[in-house]
Amino acid sequence: MQADKILVHFSQIFNPNDQGKPLTKEAMNEAQIIEDGFIAIKDDKILAIGSGEPDAELQGENTEIIDYSGKTATPGLIDCHTHLVYGGSREHEFAQKLNGASYLEILEQGGGILSTVESTQAASFEELYDKTNRLLDYMLDYGVTSAEAKSGYGLNWETEKRQLEVAKKLNEDHPIDLVSTFMGAHAIPKDLRDNSDVFIDQVIDMLPKVKEENLAEFCDIFCETGNFTADQSHRLLQAAKDLGFKLRIHADEIDSIGGVDVAAELGATSAEHLMKITDDGIDKLAEADVIANVLPGTTFSLMEDTYAPARKMIDAGVGLTLSTDCNPGSCPTINIQFIMQLGSFMMQLTPVEVFNAVTINAAYSIDRADTVGSLDQGKQADIAIFDTPNIDYAIYFFATNLISSVYKNGQEVIK
Ligand code: NIG
Ligand code: FE
Repeated sequence: MQADKILVHFSQIFNPNDQGKPLTKEAMNEAQIIEDGFIAIKDDKILAIGSGEPDAELQGENTEIIDYSGKTATPGLIDCHTHLVYGGSREHEFAQKLNGASYLEILEQGGGILSTVESTQAASFEELYDKTNRLLDYMLDYGVTSAEAKSGYGLNWETEKRQLEVAKKLNEDHPIDLVSTFMGAHAIPKDLRDNSDVFIDQVIDMLPKVKEENLAEFCDIFCETGNFTADQSHRLLQAAKDLGFKLRIHADEIDSIGGVDVAAELGATSAEHLMKITDDGIDKLAEADVIANVLPGTTFSLMEDTYAPARKMIDAGVGLTLSTDCNPGSCPTINIQFIMQLGSFMMQLTPVEVFNAVTINAAYSIDRADTVGSLDQGKQADIAIFDTPNIDYAIYFFATNLISSVYKNGQEVIK
């Protein structure tokens, strides 16, 4: 078959080995590394990849040949944990943080998530749409072509629905593919502070509406001290599972209170944060094939020093992925490249492990590995092109946007 375009002479192409499940252990540090590589694209799909001159049968009269000498190609990056749709911002909490106030102290005083809930409840669909659209534009600039987006700043149905509808519309309008997560249980509303079980009941009542309107594939909950207990998390996620939702859970971020056990018991797709995970918790994730989604930008932004034990998790056989956690409080950034660099600098992951984490393993975490996450024939032609000679340079030269172009569904959307 003839290609529409062939991108040629990459100094390096990084292509993960898609083994039909998230990569773990030694396989996490392996990939196809192609020197002087080419990528042939037909319509919106990958037609072939290889090294040297592209095969004659790929080239027809109308095939466009584009030279990428000196550059590196990888699958489009996937940011598989974000809280993208929100109103307002929280830079005023920064001074409190510098003065030593902890994340949970700020939340207890009615700030934190609750402050963003107020701004989000007050924001119109258009305001949320424009704000999120801008974040997605930045993300695309940094090489992200798919992302997960959580609700959770509504704490009531009307606002949760608006957040999810914004994500749904942007999935249609923006080049980045969005996978939605319903996170109705993100904090306890002020008026139910002492009645959080009642709030869990309210969130359970929202689940069928989310399903009917096809507003989210996943359900998530903040299982944490001062938020929701492991029992409450189990109750909500079991109800979600019964309705056909796939599950994720914010677990062991600040304290280890049983969220990992809930993830393993209910067969969640992924457990997220895990800064405080125990060795026993790591074994449980490995046994239950729950992906560990670690968010080193949050540790950095909370000015803490406990990074999730990513190396231990890989060695124990847990599928690991990395993401930004982009949100207005605990991690205000969309810069996935910086997160990848933190994965190496602070968690000692190799560049190959880091790129596998944000491509193929992230694709499994959003349940899209059949279409994205690697550059195999037939997958979407989503490609991040770095202005670097290899992937090692893209980790080593940190905190700079190293993207040179981005292809989404075979079209060059950033050049
Ligand atoms: O993942 N942990 C809970 N939720 C977010 C923070 C949200 C916020 O502070 O607005 C997180 O860290
Ligand atoms: Fe989060």
